[in-house]
Amino acid sequence: MIEALDYIGFRSPNAAEWETFGPEVLGVQLAAPGPGGAVRMRVDDAAHRLTIHPGDADDLAYLGWGVRGPAALADAAARLEAEGLDVRRGDAGLAAERGVTELAWFTDLFGFRHELAWGQLTEPAGFRPGRPLSGFLTGGQGLGHAVLIVPDLDAAEAFYGRVMGFRVSDQIDMHGVPVRFYHCNGRHHSLALVHVPGVVGYHHLMLETTALDDVGTAYDVVLERGIPLAMTLGRHTNDLMTSFYVRTPSGFEIEYGYGGVPIADTPPSPRAFAKTSIWGHHFPGEPLLPGIAKPFPQEEQ
Ligand SMILES: [Fe+2]
Repeated sequence: MIEALDYIGFRSPNAAEWETFGPEVLGVQLAAPGPGGAVRMRVDDAAHRLTIHPGDADDLAYLGWGVRGPAALADAAARLEAEGLDVRRGDAGLAAERGVTELAWFTDLFGFRHELAWGQLTEPAGFRPGRPLSGFLTGGQGLGHAVLIVPDLDAAEAFYGRVMGFRVSDQIDMHGVPVRFYHCNGRHHSLALVHVPGVVGYHHLMLETTALDDVGTAYDVVLERGIPLAMTLGRHTNDLMTSFYVRTPSGFEIEYGYGGVPIADTPPSPRAFAKTSIWGHHFPGEPLLPGIAKPFPQEEQ
């Protein structure tokens, strides 16, 4: 039922820092700000795909998943309601704010907000990167991939797989922590789940460039400015992405990569890997705890 990760939003006390971090480090284009001073960013001809809303604490605000049109949205909403979920629809103002034609949203078993939408607003005048850059790989593969930290992998798979329709790509044992990867289009994975008992959170967002040099020039900017790395340059075992992980001003990481293998070029039966990387992806001198993590279930206030 889901075709792609179309957009994503976060809340952060440091939203304003993205006005420089976005264009100068990531090379994205700033769009006009959204309501409440939200920093909106472009990576292609879509009006905006990445938004940081000012807020009290760093957190994922929503994942925006594209569906094929109005009938697909109605079918998806009916399917989610049949699973007992409270699906909200018909908010034209919210759809306009997100830059889509129509959307429905719900909160899943771990508290993540998912928005299903179609008709993403597009500006054919095109994308102007914030610094010299060949571009970002989007199109049929969507914005990139999102990685969630979940406390129960079986329950997560039952929901994201069976209910939302994501298909397993493969699995990596990351230093004893299972990470499972899922696809919904030609991208190797649009969603991955890191299993950490008792924890719910957001790990990273991957943006893929259209040239290896874009990764190298971004790496130079990060090193020159002394921006913390979560992992050094390396190449992944499963999707063969050459990438590094930079800490954003909002507590989560951006994986900035090039050269991910399409899912069609991997075996149909999911593989498993005992390490994340062929080379590199080392933790820097002082390792960062990855991403935004919160106890689950939420502690009583
Ligand atoms: Fe990734």
